[in-house]
Amino acid sequence: MSKNEWGGRLGIILAVTGSAVGLGNFLRFPGLAAKYGGGTFMIPYFAAFLLLGLPIAYIEWSIARYGGTRGYHSAPGIFSVLWPKKISPYLGVLGLIVPIGIYMYYVFIEAWCLYYAWGFLTGALNLGTDVNSYKSFFESFTGSSADGKLFSGLSPAIISLLICYTLNFFFVYRGIAGIEKVSRWGMPVLLLIALIVLVRVMTLGTPNPALPERSVINGLGHLWNPPQQKSLAESLMNAQLWMEAAGQIFFSLSVGFGVIINYASYLSKKDDIMLSATTAAAGNEFAEVALGGLITVPAAFVFLGPMGIGGTFGLGFVSLPAVFAHMPLGQMFGALWFFLLFIAAITSSVSMLQPGIAFLEEGLRLDRRKSSAALMLVTLGGSLFVAYYSRGLEALDTMDFWAGTFFIFVLAIFQVIVAGWLFGVENVLAEAQEGSRMRIPRSLPWLIKYISPAFLLTIFVMWCVQYIPDQWKKIQTNTVTQITVLFLLGTLIALVIATHFAVRYWQRHRRPGGVA
Ligand code: ALA
Repeated sequence: MSKNEWGGRLGIILAVTGSAVGLGNFLRFPGLAAKYGGGTFMIPYFAAFLLLGLPIAYIEWSIARYGGTRGYHSAPGIFSVLWPKKISPYLGVLGLIVPIGIYMYYVFIEAWCLYYAWGFLTGALNLGTDVNSYKSFFESFTGSSADGKLFSGLSPAIISLLICYTLNFFFVYRGIAGIEKVSRWGMPVLLLIALIVLVRVMTLGTPNPALPERSVINGLGHLWNPPQQKSLAESLMNAQLWMEAAGQIFFSLSVGFGVIINYASYLSKKDDIMLSATTAAAGNEFAEVALGGLITVPAAFVFLGPMGIGGTFGLGFVSLPAVFAHMPLGQMFGALWFFLLFIAAITSSVSMLQPGIAFLEEGLRLDRRKSSAALMLVTLGGSLFVAYYSRGLEALDTMDFWAGTFFIFVLAIFQVIVAGWLFGVENVLAEAQEGSRMRIPRSLPWLIKYISPAFLLTIFVMWCVQYIPDQWKKIQTNTVTQITVLFLLGTLIALVIATHFAVRYWQRHRRPGGVA
């Protein structure tokens, strides 16, 4: 089996960009931008990018390589060398539960994309131009009318899910080389398809002369102009806007995900981590703002008007299929678009598996085959659980709340504190500087030590005040929410126990300075 290291600088940049560019770029971002009025949304969005996303990405790349060159590739191991205290590896468990928890529901959405691509290609999803037909299809396809719906017979959603599982594990089983390969192929193909679809959307003009206001230009205006009813200052005085923008930056950059901390741990001292981190983040922003931001909302606006846009899933799986049905050659563009979403999703989902596999390998000494099999069993259990509790996508939403938002914030907070305050900002920067041809910005020490933690803590406290009471009420009243939280908690406890055994092993067998 190939050695676990990247084939070159381009390999890791494409892999990290592949992890970052995902459904968040093409569905979540446009949905949020349209909700808040893109012009307004971009202010907190770019503030979060510069003050949180980029500095924390630099931290992750630096501490990952520091830990990696000391023999650790999983967050518990890396945390233990950064801050050699008993508690340290247990804080790192968050770097496992985030990617594993997100993977369990993310791969289910990936499976929808795969099926929709197939459906457009074969004409099975040719349901005419009425949005309601796609709405009914989506509801029955995802089993949203009743729990267990997808398990009466072999439903297309479950078949697609099993295909996605096979593909994901096929790639990660082959190690870093397998992940690198999928990104090296996937990213250029994704870019090409996105450009083709973008040109198609930008040249739609005003397809229905009877409705001259429904033009591409007005579609872009709908997305990017700040809302007219309020002044910009008034619109910005909305705490929820700032929280959602920060959440989007983390989700989209795969920062606070436990992914970069694993991927960058396979780098050597010669590698330029500043340049690679900056390139990957810039690549993600290009895909998000210039591609994701220009395709979906204008297309939906032109054919369905401002009311037809919908939230993340509504936009992606209800509005857009109807939009393609309106377009000349729509079947082909629909197939291309959903194939693009599938590639974006799979290059992200493989990245969520690798941290868990690295941990099982180095902590529990399982070989690649056993660690892949173990992780497959656990995550498949989780995905089938999400698919079983399909009514109103309740389990999926609960997982997204805890693993896809709450734990991301907590992991990001641990990282800025452990790296900036306990390991030391000067050590982070010394690591970042080594091998780097790019000069470290003079503001970075300040950002890492003071500004990012303060901004992050403020956002997190606001977020908890706003959302935890409702979620708590749901936990008390909704059985599916209860079971989902218990399921996540069970996975977390299992990871803590596994970390306990890993620590015992590292104490006995590893170099000093690793585990206290
Ligand atoms: N960063 C990945 C996305 O945007 C998870 O979908």
